Amino acid sequence: MTHNFPRHSKITPPVAIAGAGCYITDSTGKQYFDGSGGAAVSCLGHGDADIAAAMKDQIDKLSFAHTSFFTSPPAEALADLLIANAPSGIDRVYFVSGGSEAIEASLKLARQYFVETGSPQRTHIIARKQSYHGNTLGALAAGGNAWRREQFAPLLFTASHIEPCYRYRGKADDESDHAYGQRMANALETEILRLGADKVMAFLAEPVVGATLGAVAAEAGYFTRIREICDHYGVLLILDEVMCGMGRTGSLFACDHDQVRPDIIAIAKGLGAGYQPVGAMLCSKDIYEAIATGSGFFQHGHTYLAHPVACAAAHAVLSKIIETGLPSRATMMGRQAFTVIAINLWPASFYR
Ligand SMILES: Cc1ncc(COP(=O)(O)O)c(C=O)c1O
Repeated sequence: MTHNFPRHSKITPPVAIAGAGCYITDSTGKQYFDGSGGAAVSCLGHGDADIAAAMKDQIDKLSFAHTSFFTSPPAEALADLLIANAPSGIDRVYFVSGGSEAIEASLKLARQYFVETGSPQRTHIIARKQSYHGNTLGALAAGGNAWRREQFAPLLFTASHIEPCYRYRGKADDESDHAYGQRMANALETEILRLGADKVMAFLAEPVVGATLGAVAAEAGYFTRIREICDHYGVLLILDEVMCGMGRTGSLFACDHDQVRPDIIAIAKGLGAGYQPVGAMLCSKDIYEAIATGSGFFQHGHTYLAHPVACAAAHAVLSKIIETGLPSRATMMGRQAFTVIAINLWPASFYR
């Protein structure tokens, strides 16, 4: 008998009581190899004593101070470390408690940016089919996963969904990889023109699609063309690096591979490595300045923004990722895994 509301009421999950390295142990003593780190979360493994010590140290000093009144040393240090490693132009960090919250903050910042800069008619979000950006209503509305959206559709704002860059299913036989990538990117321009060139607020995409396509990177040159289109029509580029960010593609930010300069980036998962629920929305200096020199107030917020213990844990995690060179190890292991044939487990009916 449990009073927990489980993910699925017809499945009784084992009770996890301990974690060490790649293994989780349940209450019967059975060990599980946690190869995926949950949902791509536990990138340092379980039971890392350094992260636990950093959290304990912070709890002993200060466990909470509301961000309406205070900032804190761990939040400042973590923001500095992220910006020191972020794509050029990214200058500010807004800490939240997970990926969906990071996407909500990104969407609201994009909207407020246009309100403050005199383009309130820009309201449309364009994302891609079969994309997942989180389960809160705004993130779900932006996402293009038909199954996850279906029963909540009456509650969701209208977003456009263009085709993803997914060579396996979409490339024509007589088309080069590059030409396919450009064709998929140009679909953004077509959709912007259909909606009205000055009506679109932002394009939202994952540099490497995680949960809903299965580790699919775009063709080389795709995001360069996307950036060109966004610049041409004054549309913001929001990159969702909640799953692909924080080192697992071989660089701290996945978009570093394409050398693309996003306006807003959402991160989570590997940022806290499961030690704390933490995520962040990062934005460019220009966007921040528009708010800072305008109303001065980003009309958003949650009680646990920039939680000191979450930020202390994330700072310890990020420092460890950087100092131990985990991104280069991911590159090396990725080359080995490339030789393994990937099987797409989604049935074709999911792809629409
Ligand atoms: C790409 C992407 N964005 C957003 C989210 C939502 O993150 P969270 O579950 O932390 O709210 C996820 C979660 O899997 C994700 O993979």
